[in-house]
Amino acid sequence: MKAILDLDRYPIDRLDRNAGRALVDNSRISLEQEGMFTLSGFIRPAARDSILEEVQPVLRRDSFTHSRSHNVYFEDEIPGLAADHPALREGWTTNHTVCGDQIAGSSICRIYEWQPLVEFLTRVMGRKRLYLMDDPMAALNVLEYRSGEPALNWHFDRSEFTTTLLLCAADRGGEFQYRSALRTANDPNFEGVAALLADDDPEIRTLPMTAGTLCIFRGVETAHRVTPVTGTRSRIVAVLSYYERPGVRFSKAERLGFYGRVE
Ligand SMILES: [Fe+2]
Repeated sequence: MKAILDLDRYPIDRLDRNAGRALVDNSRISLEQEGMFTLSGFIRPAARDSILEEVQPVLRRDSFTHSRSHNVYFEDEIPGLAADHPALREGWTTNHTVCGDQIAGSSICRIYEWQPLVEFLTRVMGRKRLYLMDDPMAALNVLEYRSGEPALNWHFDRSEFTTTLLLCAADRGGEFQYRSALRTANDPNFEGVAALLADDDPEIRTLPMTAGTLCIFRGVETAHRVTPVTGTRSRIVAVLSYYERPGVRFSKAERLGFYGRVE
């Protein structure tokens, strides 16, 4: 793993030494205060290139094109909100998905399963334990956002934390934008959501991210999107799913909806 991840800069295999502890502490603080943290250059450039060589042919040949119109909640209706409320305005998302079972044994799968990374994330998220998802399709996904497509529209995540590895940054567009603390558990702030969707929110921020970056993000209260890719290079990102309980699998309906197949 030393050849794949920059463990000199990010000693996640030595978390009980001083440098490892400091990395956990700093990452935790950033996650608490800003709702996210990033480790740029987490994957070494040469390893990132070989990961792309592994996944790009599969993306070209065998990816599932997932295109849908949705609101920020991914729900058909929200209690207390009229169907025509501007907070329910829909936008399009299109991505091309490769599932973990299509690239089993690849370097990106090995990173996902690497126990020191799971232990690092467990400590940073302040959990007792995290488990790999028990679903060969959903545990690890590689998503491509291609030029001329709508990319990923504004939404809140349904899981508290999202872990991603950026494998290829777009040369134009494909930027990760977010709006922190747009809602809380007690205040859905529908007017604020409506203002964001109307492009009338001065608090929208863009997170500069280079290929090879690990990003942990609290997407439940922070609305976020990826802007459309307009240059020649796609944005390609790996999404790593971990859970606090073992044995989590997608239902057949979820598999069909996200991947167009059940096996
Ligand atoms: Fe998200």
